[in-house]
Amino acid sequence: MQEHKHHAKSSIKFLDSDEILSQLNLKGNEVFMDAGCGDGHIAIKAIEDYLPDGCAYAVDNYGPSIDELEEFKAENNIENLINVQADITEDIVQIEDNSIDMIFMLNVVHGFKASGNMEDVIEKLLRILKSDGKITIVEFRPIEWSFGPPVEIKYAPDELEGIFYSYGFKKVYLNDIGEDGPDGKSHYLIIFEKE
Ligand SMILES: C[S@@+](CC[C@H](N)C(=O)[O-])C[C@H]1O[C@@H](n2cnc3c(N)ncnc32)[C@H](O)[C@@H]1O
Repeated sequence: MQEHKHHAKSSIKFLDSDEILSQLNLKGNEVFMDAGCGDGHIAIKAIEDYLPDGCAYAVDNYGPSIDELEEFKAENNIENLINVQADITEDIVQIEDNSIDMIFMLNVVHGFKASGNMEDVIEKLLRILKSDGKITIVEFRPIEWSFGPPVEIKYAPDELEGIFYSYGFKKVYLNDIGEDGPDGKSHYLIIFEKE
């Protein structure tokens, strides 16, 4: 794949894709959405190793990322990767109502804490998520770390839990993941589903 600015921000350098994907309890036939996919490495790994009968949407508002994923898809003859350029704070018109089993966001939502539009994102995602669908978020734990966003814009897991609770979601899984540091691991993985 060609170089572009989001490679600098790809989590592939510091988080293990299998550590993440193995905790999602995927059956293998799901419709998965990597929202704010960047280089799309999670969507690609998901269809390669975890979704033999499923498919993945890779969604980002940064055009060059989606262009590169389209090139990758064409070069490798991949059918079950659907690349979509869209702003997830807006309605994602390319994706149908009630069509996604799992929406996944890796190192994305701290940006919405900073911009104050996390609620917009949840409201837009609700339309495309199946009624029994799940939302998985992987984020930096709210501790000082040698790289990544400032602590003030890192969501604590219980902060996200409160926001999702107000939209009728309950936490069904929470685990610390990533690199070890003096105050524990770098990240957490949290999964929500409708109550
Ligand atoms: C820190 S990068 C993480 C990329 C990837 N998830 C990873 O962990 O490797 C954040 C990504 O979210 C995307 N993003 C930010 N705001 C977005 C929005 N409103 N709609 C869609 N994508 C967005 C950015 O373009 C970027 O690719």
